[in-house]
Amino acid sequence: MFEFSLIQDAYKESSSIIARKAVRAILFRGQSVLMVSSRQGDYKFPGGGVEPGESEREALKREVREETGYTDLVIGPCVGTVFEQNDDIFGTGDCFQMQSYYYVCRLGSEAREEQKLDDYECDLEMQAVFLTPAEALAQNRAVLERERRHITTGMLTSIPWLEREIRVLERLTESPLARIAFEVYECGQIIKHAVCREDMVDEKSGHANFVTTYDRKIQNELRERLLQLAPDAVFVGEEEEAHASVATGKAFIVDPIDGTTNFMKDYRASCISVAMTQDGKAELGVVYNPYLDEMFLAKRGCGAYRNGKQIFVSRQPLANGLVLFGTSPYHTDLAKKSFAMASDYFEKALDVRRSGSAALDLCSIACGRAELYFELRLSPWDYAAGALMVEEAGGSVTTVEGDDITLNAPCSVLAAGTLGR
Ligand code: IPD
Ligand code: CA
Ligand code: CA
Repeated sequence: MFEFSLIQDAYKESSSIIARKAVRAILFRGQSVLMVSSRQGDYKFPGGGVEPGESEREALKREVREETGYTDLVIGPCVGTVFEQNDDIFGTGDCFQMQSYYYVCRLGSEAREEQKLDDYECDLEMQAVFLTPAEALAQNRAVLERERRHITTGMLTSIPWLEREIRVLERLTESPLARIAFEVYECGQIIKHAVCREDMVDEKSGHANFVTTYDRKIQNELRERLLQLAPDAVFVGEEEEAHASVATGKAFIVDPIDGTTNFMKDYRASCISVAMTQDGKAELGVVYNPYLDEMFLAKRGCGAYRNGKQIFVSRQPLANGLVLFGTSPYHTDLAKKSFAMASDYFEKALDVRRSGSAALDLCSIACGRAELYFELRLSPWDYAAGALMVEEAGGSVTTVEGDDITLNAPCSVLAAGTLGR
């Protein structure tokens, strides 16, 4: 959802580098986020450095407990990263680099103990506060203004995290992407821990077209959770009886399990795909693969990301490329043409692959794992989020005939990295 660098000082040949990894919590409760206030009037996300031998998640639990007292942290996906570089902050001549990973979280319960602040944090009178991201942003901007004025009068009291947290709060107030990612992540745990049994499967119309109790369960969960975030949106889930139009207004286009046949076989290549659209155009895209713990996020005009790092399509030519394709299994009349095209591409490229999930195939194109993907017939929930991912990663998405794809009706899809342009 975001990846940026704040480089205060350039690296000097003479300095040695001290590199640290930090984890930070974007913890939502209702409309508010949990922040740590200081006596300077600013707000920072709770979190801090990962200690040797600690996992990122262990460090985040410890940091949130120490800084805020809350002990029951439920950690969701990593949605953003920030790289910072400062010279000589400890007066030792070292170059200090820090990579922060921001995780979306919630509280499992209100369980709380005493804060455990270090001396520096005690001096700053750090306190846990819930407030809306917009309130925290306004407050931090006001503090930055004040700090800037002090710079000109030579009275700077530096707050090292101020600019960083302003940038992160800006992203949070711009869209509900982080919150959608959290809901999708939690539903992804249902897929990951599912126990597959034969009686969970029902047949739908068409060849090899199935729905499981899990598809329905996840769709119901997502409907409830997503409509809470955007009550004015229409919900279009694959497993519903009738599908509302997305041509006007806001809509969620949802595939609760993309790759149902894989899921039934425990083939471990399935995902949840959610797009938020406005007037028939995807604005936000979320695809989560719980087996590999890969969270793909895209926002129109702001790039595509995997686990908080920006991704880009491949620049390899087809001759050095992998071609992914789908067989449109519910439309057997298209099989001959699909395999003829695949055979054609097989001769032009390194090899072909068939994963069983269109949304994951599109994400593979977005992050440069493969160069081209095609399928002769898909439904909007298969590609709404993945297509935005490819476009935001610098690739192109059209129908196989070269026309624009539409989110209101099924169509063919051809997605490519830079070679397709
Ligand atoms: C299917 C998968 C598959 C593609 C089919 C889709 P489902 O979705 O994306 O890769 O070939 O065309 O319908 O039914 O598993 O949600
Ligand atoms: Ca699907
Ligand atoms: Ca599905």
